[in-house]
Amino acid sequence: MRLIFRIYILFWCGLFICSRIQPGDMLFTIVIAVASVVVTAALWIKTMRPIDRLTLVANFCFKLGLNRVIMRRPKQVTEVELTNGVKALLPSAMMAHGLEEVLKFRMRPDDIVVATYAKAGTTWMQEIVWLICNDADTKAAKAATLGKRYGFLETVDVTDFGQGLQTLEKWPKHQTRFIKTHLPFELLPNELQTSPKGKMIVVVRNPKDNCVSFYHFHRMVKGLPEPGTWSEFLTKFCAGRMPFGSWFDHVSKYWQIYQERKRSMYFVSYEKLKRDLKGEVRRLSKFLEKNLTEDQIDAIAQHCTFGSMSKNSSTNYTDVAKTGAFEFKASKFMRKGEVGDWKNHFTINQSKAFDEMFEERTKDWTLKFEFEPA
Ligand code: A3P
Repeated sequence: MRLIFRIYILFWCGLFICSRIQPGDMLFTIVIAVASVVVTAALWIKTMRPIDRLTLVANFCFKLGLNRVIMRRPKQVTEVELTNGVKALLPSAMMAHGLEEVLKFRMRPDDIVVATYAKAGTTWMQEIVWLICNDADTKAAKAATLGKRYGFLETVDVTDFGQGLQTLEKWPKHQTRFIKTHLPFELLPNELQTSPKGKMIVVVRNPKDNCVSFYHFHRMVKGLPEPGTWSEFLTKFCAGRMPFGSWFDHVSKYWQIYQERKRSMYFVSYEKLKRDLKGEVRRLSKFLEKNLTEDQIDAIAQHCTFGSMSKNSSTNYTDVAKTGAFEFKASKFMRKGEVGDWKNHFTINQSKAFDEMFEERTKDWTLKFEFEPA
């Protein structure tokens, strides 16, 4: 590659000199200069990693507002097989490049990872964890969006949209990295799969509410596959045809890993957070080895209520809505924040069929779920 580059530079230098020999041939010089810039840029782009190329293209589209014009909803999830043999269901085939890099991603001993099936309460937990690790500094939390305080492992950097893998790679060595992920355990960095690294917090949510929340999220996010009607979406959810796969596989694998890694993992349900937010903040601070005062615990619990977070522009994703990637007219990100909203969506027959399927698929699980508000 280097040799081609040298030949290419010499070639253009030669042509440039020739052009200078013929006085007045300005047009020729300009054409050569422009061609040179274009070829150099093309060669430079060719040497980039696919995920960096993706960032470049995405930034270009977002800056010019092209994303609003060219973004097309995929009809359904794409199935890809990664080099480690794991099959993944992704919103788009393009994302597979990112996942290959995720597998190679180097963990650090003080990393903090918030891992969830999408719509289980990730944002909520991100805010709680960040505040615990930053002495309940609610002012600082309000000054920067969660997208700027965390890196989203399976995404790439896109200015004004969020920080992805590249930001995590460049994160200052002396600072704790805050990592968010919805990946199933089998797609996490190889280093993290083989042994515990840093601390991981997992949030799970009862599948009926999780499915409802995911349905509305699909309606809102234009880059996600077509949700169809509620009934069609529910069928796909039950069949596991969701971005990053089946709720059942996702949750059961993390629960299994938690049994083996209790020292480095914290496992909590959305429903428990709802029932006892303050108690959970206290237990989480202990897990994260942070000594907080009662006043600080109170401040975090107050800051992290649904009412407070839905009004807070650092946590309610209004910044992303401005880019056109989230369509708030279809649904808000901070939608209802309740346990039991599934009752407003499931028909009696859908609920009965779901319960039967749930009973069957979880009959061996030791993990239990709450479907009713406390
Ligand atoms: P609903 O769609 O049911 O309202 P995630 O962050 O994983 O995408 O999850 C989003 C879900 O968590 C949404 O659920 C959102 O309203 C809810 N949520 C976010 N912050 C919350 C909070 N402080 N209290 C309760 N629910 C919250």
